[in-house]
Amino acid sequence: MFAATRAFTSLAAKRTFSTSAANLSKVAVLGAAGGIGQPLSLLLKNNTKVTDLSLYDIVNSPGVAADLSHINTNSKVTGYGPENDGLKKALEGSEIVVIPAGVPRKPGMTRDDLFNTNASIVRDLAEACAKHCPKANFLIISNPVNSTVPIFAEVLKKAGVYNPKRLFGVTTLDVVRASRFVSEVKAKDPKDVKVTVIGGHSGVTIVPLLSQTGEKFSKEELDALTNRIQFGGDEVVKAKNGTGSATLSMAFAGARFADSLLDAQQGKKGVVEPTFVESPIYADQGVEFFATNVELGPNGVEKIHPIGETSDYEKDLITKCLEDLKKNIAKGKSFVKA
Ligand code: NAD
Ligand code: LMR
Repeated sequence: MFAATRAFTSLAAKRTFSTSAANLSKVAVLGAAGGIGQPLSLLLKNNTKVTDLSLYDIVNSPGVAADLSHINTNSKVTGYGPENDGLKKALEGSEIVVIPAGVPRKPGMTRDDLFNTNASIVRDLAEACAKHCPKANFLIISNPVNSTVPIFAEVLKKAGVYNPKRLFGVTTLDVVRASRFVSEVKAKDPKDVKVTVIGGHSGVTIVPLLSQTGEKFSKEELDALTNRIQFGGDEVVKAKNGTGSATLSMAFAGARFADSLLDAQQGKKGVVEPTFVESPIYADQGVEFFATNVELGPNGVEKIHPIGETSDYEKDLITKCLEDLKKNIAKGKSFVKA
């Protein structure tokens, strides 16, 4: 009798919270106790589209989960460690898996210097994802994104479960920064400044298309802004002085991308975000993955937007970008093949 009453109460409660079965969204964060993982999980806990928040890390995730679970939003939060099949339990049933697991840069390092450590972390997590939630959407934050996304793709391919429409390198921070930096120069509200950023996510592979903003820039402004957008990450690494790289702005950017994807999954039309995906745009030049604006939909990537008109200045940037990007992608792919 008691059990029946409880079952009824919980069913009624579910209805009251108006999450229809189609809109149940389990989101897993791998690396949830880290510098990005914690604030990102906080923002996801505050997102009413998330119904089940699953936090996995090799350390400290039960503590982070217990803390977040006291926030009075509807989602259920569970923390998992590597013991007792924690990773499997964290992943099973996930619609979105966000991955900020891995080490961050210290001053003087490039993102590629993280490859030796992070490549195997991402490969191992990809293997688990292939096994326990092959149909989820995978959002890769771990650096070097230009190589970790191809690594993830290769692992899923090996397992026979790769769906290019559901694998995303998170490059949102580049457009967030670009909007902020341009708004400072032009004394505008950043919400009115949209900057398309294409390419990859490191140094010269980050290509802002400032000619498409509708603003006029002097050559000095163009050089300074382009450099700041390409090397914005270094600014934070230097300021943090050996304690890590961008975490809070990254959490903001990652939560924005996850929110957009949830919107699109739940039927909202015209949701567009920049992201590093398998792309036909420069595939004929051997560059399989490329970031552009992408329309998101219930099946993940709905439409890859073309680059549009670019200036000669930007054409030069793209040429430099492609040279590096091609090498970064090949490095990721051959790591898995080897
Ligand atoms: P951090 O060291 O603070 O946190 C990383 C977390 O990953 C730690 O809690 C660690 O225990 C965990 N971890 C390590 N191996 C793991 C594994 N096998 N499974 C699960 N968790 C594991 O680092 P951070 O500042 O949060 O940065 C994480 C990554 O994100 C770095 O590689 C960094 O370069 C990258 N990053 C990317 C962007 C981007 O725009 N894509 C922006 C900022 C940082
Ligand atoms: C960033 O752009 O802030 C991240 O990729 C972290 C880094 O290493 O700069």
